[in-house]
Amino acid sequence: MKFLVTGGAGFIGSHLLRRLSARGPVTVLDNLSSGKKENLAGLNGTFLHGSILDPAPLAEACAGATHVFHLAALVSVPESVSHPARCQEINVEGTRRVLAAAAQAGARRLVLASSCAVYGNEPTMPKTETSPVAPASPYAESKLAGEKLCAAAKLPAVALRFFNVYGPRQDPRGPYAAAVPQFLEAARIGSPLTIFGDGQQTRDFVFVDDVTAALEHAALSPSLSGVYNVASGHSVSVLRLAELVLALTGRRSAIRHAPARPGDLLHSSASIEKLRATGWKPSVDLPTGLQKILSAA
Ligand SMILES: NC(=O)c1ccc[n+]([C@@H]2O[C@H](COP(=O)([O-])OP(=O)(O)OC[C@H]3O[C@@H](n4cnc5c(N)ncnc54)[C@H](O)[C@@H]3O)[C@@H](O)[C@H]2O)c1
Repeated sequence: MKFLVTGGAGFIGSHLLRRLSARGPVTVLDNLSSGKKENLAGLNGTFLHGSILDPAPLAEACAGATHVFHLAALVSVPESVSHPARCQEINVEGTRRVLAAAAQAGARRLVLASSCAVYGNEPTMPKTETSPVAPASPYAESKLAGEKLCAAAKLPAVALRFFNVYGPRQDPRGPYAAAVPQFLEAARIGSPLTIFGDGQQTRDFVFVDDVTAALEHAALSPSLSGVYNVASGHSVSVLRLAELVLALTGRRSAIRHAPARPGDLLHSSASIEKLRATGWKPSVDLPTGLQKILSAA
């Protein structure tokens, strides 16, 4: 087996590399737009610095790959709202090109990183894979379009709808940082934890090792097809997350509320029965996962 991970220098990709390296060589294609070279330390394989939109490095990356993990993307909902054309180009046209190049190179399977964002604010909970989709941002639209491209691809391609992934090496800085690393960093330096909106919005936070296990499982299980949720199966409010971070770190930082952000979901709750029935299950709950990050720091 030989693996290609697009976006392998990013947060989830870099954890996936470590999991895959025991099985075979890994090629990473990443333009380092949000990923970091230091995330590739110990890579068992080759790093190609380039864009999925650029045919030459993409063909080079796909050559000989048996399994392709397509994680490279513009990943921020707010950024997709301010730059919709860029989001469409990277996430839709980029996915189309990766699927075509993987099929052309004779890869056996591709796994796409999709998102719970495709469900939008449609109120049915918990979300199953047959729940209505209602994408509420260019990012969500682009992920849904990527799933449709997978369904029509010339090689078997599975899409995993990740809920809110967290874990070590997640960047706490920048305007688009996710809640878990932002809260942990704020608690560490003693500044207020900023919640967008009233904090009653709910999320399913899934630990990154459970996500990379799902990616590996989807790639190596030929019976899987279509879309699957990847989540912990338990949702908590963002306010509860902030309180948990303060309790685990023993810090007394204040909790501050800022205006809700455009495109952000109100509630998010996942059914994970479809993927669980195929043999995958999450193994890290939120307090344990937060503790693992604190121990890794
Ligand atoms: N983190 C989450 O909670 C979450 C939730 C749902 C879905 N996802 C999806 O999982 C995937 C990985 O997300 P992440 O959190 O690790 O984000 P990340 O930003 O850390 O990783 C994305 C990687 O893609 C690379 N990249 C971006 N554009 C590229 C291009 N044109 N060519 C080559 N490389 C490019 C970036 O440099 C980065 O290394 C993304 O597809 C994202 O949409 C993540």
